[in-house]
Amino acid sequence: MAARGNFSNRLGFILAAAGSAVGLGNIWKFPFEVEAGGGAVFVVLYLIFCFALCFPVMVTEVAIGRKTEKNPAGAFVALGFPKWKYLGILGIVSGIIILSFYNVVAGWAFGYFLEMAQGNFDIGNNFGSYITNIWQIGLYAVLFMGATAFIVSKGIAGGIEKAAKILMPTLIVMILGILAYSFTLPNAMIGIEYYLVPEFSEINLRVIGGALRQAFFSLSLGMGALITYGSYLSKNENIVSSAASITLFDVGIAFFAGLMLFPLVAYSTGGDMSNIQGGAGLIFVTLPGVFESLGPVLGIVLGAFFFLLLSFAALTSTVSLLEVPVAYIVDEFKVKRNKAVIIMALIIFTAGLPSLVGNGYSEFFTKFIHYIGAEEPTDFMTFLGHLADISLLLGGCLIVTFAAYVWKKENLHEELEQGNEGYSSSWLKTFINITVSYVCPVLLALLFVLVVLNNFF
Ligand code: PHE
Repeated sequence: MAARGNFSNRLGFILAAAGSAVGLGNIWKFPFEVEAGGGAVFVVLYLIFCFALCFPVMVTEVAIGRKTEKNPAGAFVALGFPKWKYLGILGIVSGIIILSFYNVVAGWAFGYFLEMAQGNFDIGNNFGSYITNIWQIGLYAVLFMGATAFIVSKGIAGGIEKAAKILMPTLIVMILGILAYSFTLPNAMIGIEYYLVPEFSEINLRVIGGALRQAFFSLSLGMGALITYGSYLSKNENIVSSAASITLFDVGIAFFAGLMLFPLVAYSTGGDMSNIQGGAGLIFVTLPGVFESLGPVLGIVLGAFFFLLLSFAALTSTVSLLEVPVAYIVDEFKVKRNKAVIIMALIIFTAGLPSLVGNGYSEFFTKFIHYIGAEEPTDFMTFLGHLADISLLLGGCLIVTFAAYVWKKENLHEELEQGNEGYSSSWLKTFINITVSYVCPVLLALLFVLVVLNNFF
């Protein structure tokens, strides 16, 4: 097994897994989801979902990975349930789908770093033409996939872990630095209020489903990324406390990202939050203008810093997304890591082309599908995002159901006891027992149905 590689220690694993978790989902999506979903109400829902539903799924994924030392498909076979391999394959396919469009957005973010570094604050007003300039954003996407492939080709300790050990601390320092500065600006409090003051009237089934989807995506669950990372974790490490650290890390960064962003926005609008553009626009359209309002020098420094930070966060996520299919073909087809990386990176990049051109350049992919009852057609990338959301929820639901009733929870607990002496007598065992056996399968199945109905109908 030594040939597969391992994380060098617990910290390496936690940083790599937190690197997978922390990404565009935290810094780009979370803040505006909170704002649209009723502020603090959404945050509370999100926290409950992360700890009560997602944390047990994470523990289960890592345990399955570590027990079998295999990729998501091979893991089910190694446990003695070959038919369940299709669940692993569903996860691998979801990973490929997610990376195909995620890489495009990561490329946009990287391009924004270059624009900001040159003081081109106008880019926000030209976002529409920026994302249809397919040669330019195509080049960024190539570079991003190239960087991802380079890191993955270096293996676990020397590639994925090393990158996370450099990028994650840098990311934290950058976020805290910008956050501290943004708090000193006039109207900072108005921004915070806009972000967090609860609006109970906003809460509905859509928001509840949205909070769960966001939690799953943000924690990289339901597709075997953590089965894969878990397969490189040593038997001496404590899975439960590692998973708790990863969850806290992810939630913390998402929360801080909002605290950093909204004061900046409030400053640039002079405290008038009535016309803020939500959604994708918040970061790619509104923020460049916000940096401009800080004056040329500071604006360039903070603006470039911010988009570099976003690119770093995305990079540790794309690395985990590529590692899943790479581990699959390395394990199952005995392909060499370098070759596997090149093959998968090429396939996924190509699969990303419709997402690359589907934001105005190609009419077909821009108006890709018309959902029943929707006013506007949905573009290809957004459609893939919806598909991914539901497949992650389904995957997560089936993974815990498998662990509790097919593999059997005694085996799960046995794996969790390794490297965690007090586990059998701790309340966490009871908690994991109840959540994995009942709470997660039932609630995830219900919410899965809800999300499908909400997304497509
Ligand atoms: N968690 C990442 C983010 O928040 C995205 C991701 C999803 C990464 C699934 C890996 C697996 O941006």
